[in-house]
Amino acid sequence: MLDLRAPLRRGFDRVERGLDLLFGPDWNPLSNLGPLGWFLFWIVAVTGIYLFIFFDTGVVQAYASVEWLTNDHWFHAGLARSFHRYASDLMVLVMLVHLVREFVKDRYRGRRWFSWVTGVPVLWFVYLSGITGYWLVWDELAQYIALTSTELLDALPIFAEPIARNFLSPEKLSSRFFTLMVFLHIAIPLLLLLMMWIHIQRISQARTKPARGLAVLTLAGLTGASFLMPATSQGPADLATVPATLGIDWFLLSLFPVIEVTPPGVIWTGVLVFTLLLIGLPWLPARREIAAAEVFLDHCNGCARCVADCPYSAITLMPRSDGAPFAQEVEVNPARCVACGICMGSCPSSTPFRRSDNLVTGIDLPDFSLADLRAQAIAAAKTLSGPGRVLTLACSHGAGGRAEEGRLLLPCVAMAPPSLLDFIISRGLADGVCVTGCAERECWNRLGGDWMRQRIARTRDPFLRDRVPRERLLVLWTGPSEGRRLKRETADFAKRIAAMPPYEKVRQLDEGEASTDKSRSDRQEVAR
Ligand code: HEM
Ligand code: SF4
Ligand code: SF4
Repeated sequence: MLDLRAPLRRGFDRVERGLDLLFGPDWNPLSNLGPLGWFLFWIVAVTGIYLFIFFDTGVVQAYASVEWLTNDHWFHAGLARSFHRYASDLMVLVMLVHLVREFVKDRYRGRRWFSWVTGVPVLWFVYLSGITGYWLVWDELAQYIALTSTELLDALPIFAEPIARNFLSPEKLSSRFFTLMVFLHIAIPLLLLLMMWIHIQRISQARTKPARGLAVLTLAGLTGASFLMPATSQGPADLATVPATLGIDWFLLSLFPVIEVTPPGVIWTGVLVFTLLLIGLPWLPARREIAAAEVFLDHCNGCARCVADCPYSAITLMPRSDGAPFAQEVEVNPARCVACGICMGSCPSSTPFRRSDNLVTGIDLPDFSLADLRAQAIAAAKTLSGPGRVLTLACSHGAGGRAEEGRLLLPCVAMAPPSLLDFIISRGLADGVCVTGCAERECWNRLGGDWMRQRIARTRDPFLRDRVPRERLLVLWTGPSEGRRLKRETADFAKRIAAMPPYEKVRQLDEGEASTDKSRSDRQEVAR
């Protein structure tokens, strides 16, 4: 399964990197699909509320009121109608690409199952909202949808009387039934909103707003489409006749031509099997995850940095329980922890400079501890030779995801505490360090790339110390399709390093050789 997805993953990545060139990483639509979905939802909600001011909910008056707002009031209500339609269409597209992208990138299995499973009802609610919306126009298309969907519903043993009967003749269609459809077109989007909110509950700092520039571009696109192809109705519904030719909205209604020619039993079985398959996908096969992070209270001062940095809301702040002179401690929820190691990289106790053989930190991964990380860095450094020795710390989901000599594979680059970079350079393990994570705005663990960038720029704790020579550091954000770029840029970096004068090892602070003010503050930083 993973092998089958690898070419797809690279294909996606290629398109995304192309869009990076066009839009820049921040405005890249493919890395903003979730936020775009939210943005489109609000556009649909606001324009929908506006349309309701002009809409008449009676079965006879509905068509006339839609015609009136479309033609007589095209410059505001008609425009709102076009926005409502095209934003709904775009929401379907955005949602489907988002679904495929999360699948291809394998970000839905193991302890990350929650967003996927809660996305399944979101998918159906989006379609149902669109279908009930088209119904309200009460034109020929609405008539076709009404008849096809009620016939499908009648195949289920739910209603005592077949509801398709309502559409046999004009006299049979009551305004009450029509009002029920209006109610559904309000209730289903509200349920959708609730599900969208649940969908992001197990991730922290979920992005629900696209970058401003992308939002403006989206609005401009919708405005352009609304002026060029204003949304219109088809002929008025007439239950005495069968509409001959219909224009279909292929985003929201593409299933209808299939429903028309397929027995209802087959459709319902298909819907059920597809939904169950989609829900079960995170366990087909289940991801083998390494053990969840573990807290060591003896090394935790309750600073809450790990709580702020965990991308999966897996760490909670609790009142101190061990009598230590701190107000708080932290607890990890193993059901949510994906073992990305980001918390380990953010803990002030995570410093490889500590002398203890038994290197323990405040929060550690049992299967890939800070001690393992230090030992692996030392071992990987020993494989390097010649001038310009570069040790690479690579995220296993980016371009550097394959094991190589002189490369340390991490579940996320932000697992490495900044003091590890200092340790490698100041202890002379290598002449330079390359840190390579997923492409910008594409962190497989959502926030790791941002945290690492900010730690290096000294805007987020724990800071990379000033004494680390930045010219000996290469930070590269590369997607899985950018293996060649990574190779080229690391080779150039190694050449630059080789041309530099040998780095004078920073004197060992813990041996008490340094005595300037600068090193005193450095020492405090190490001790923190
Ligand atoms: C219009 C509908 C949808 C909206 C607005 C939406 C929105 C979002 C948002 C805002 C995020 C968080 C992005 C971030 O900050 O990292 C997200 C993540 C995700 N969504 Fe959706 N989503 C929608 C539909 C779906 C569907 C249909 C599925 C799949 C069945 C799905 C699966 C996922 C997954 C797997 C994640 C990643 C969670 C993680 O990183 O662990 N979403 N979505
Ligand atoms: S390893 Fe740490 S940061 Fe990552 S999910 Fe687990 S608790 Fe959160
Ligand atoms: S970052 Fe470390 S010291 Fe701070 S609360 Fe988390 S485990 Fe404790």
